Amino acid sequence: MKLICFTALSALPVLAVPRDRGEWRAPKEGDVRAPCPMLNTLANHGYLPRNGKGISKAIAVEALSTAINWDFSVVSPLYDFAQPTNPDPNATTIDLNHLTTHNILEHDGSLSRQDTFFGPADVFHVDTWKETLSYFTTPNIDVGQAARARTARVVTSASTNPSFTFPQIGSYFDYGETAAYQFVFGTWNLDADDIKDKISTPLELVKYFFEFERLPFEIGWKRPQNRLTFDILVNFVIETQGLTLGQMNGTIP
Ligand code: HEM
Ligand code: MG
Repeated sequence: MKLICFTALSALPVLAVPRDRGEWRAPKEGDVRAPCPMLNTLANHGYLPRNGKGISKAIAVEALSTAINWDFSVVSPLYDFAQPTNPDPNATTIDLNHLTTHNILEHDGSLSRQDTFFGPADVFHVDTWKETLSYFTTPNIDVGQAARARTARVVTSASTNPSFTFPQIGSYFDYGETAAYQFVFGTWNLDADDIKDKISTPLELVKYFFEFERLPFEIGWKRPQNRLTFDILVNFVIETQGLTLGQMNGTIP
């Protein structure tokens, strides 16, 4: 009887959750990383495999839920967009460096990375980040500042990079990425009348996260209490898209 129970249990799909999660450790020789500061951060904390390899949808869903309270409804479609970055068409996992393939998800005009034309698009680049930071002029970033920084980086790339491209999927991701850091590090007030007041994000948390690829617990950050669902993210992205376009044609300050 004991043997039967044991056999039945071992047949269950078990998610191998790393035991050493939580503590931040820099990547080691041979570990791989992405152009995404959050996936890198979660690998550095052991929520994702520390070597950055063999990430299945189940692992991604569990890690993002545990670490930052993101719902399956958001992570599942994000992962589905990422799966084709693995050059093996039959693969059911990704390695973080697969995500750097230009113009699948990785795009020009990033907030903290160079365009592929100028240099490696996966690693943090301080001069690019300084341009982004120049738009964050108060201790708390409002949604308008975040949108202006995002737009400015795309405009700079378009006017300096002779190979500049911005495929539609890249542009959706770009809006989503700006929304993403606000949802993780900011305080939400999604009922605010003015879209610029819907999230207020402490600049020091955002700087710490981008610059160290580390969750900013030591300066007061806590896992968000609100769970981010697909509907919340998409509605916010649609609204900020309008804000950004208005800023570009001068109708919104
Ligand atoms: C950037 C993938 C989850 C925040 C990126 C990029 C990729 C990517 C491919 C590079 C785009 C570029 O060229 O800039 C993914 C996938 C995810 C995921 C597949 C989930 C399965 C997250 C989460 C956050 C996040 C949860 C939360 C903060 C960002 C930010 C950038 C980014 C802020 C922009 C970096 C920059 O512009 O320098 N992500 N990501 N991502 N991601 Fe993620
Ligand atoms: Mg990029």
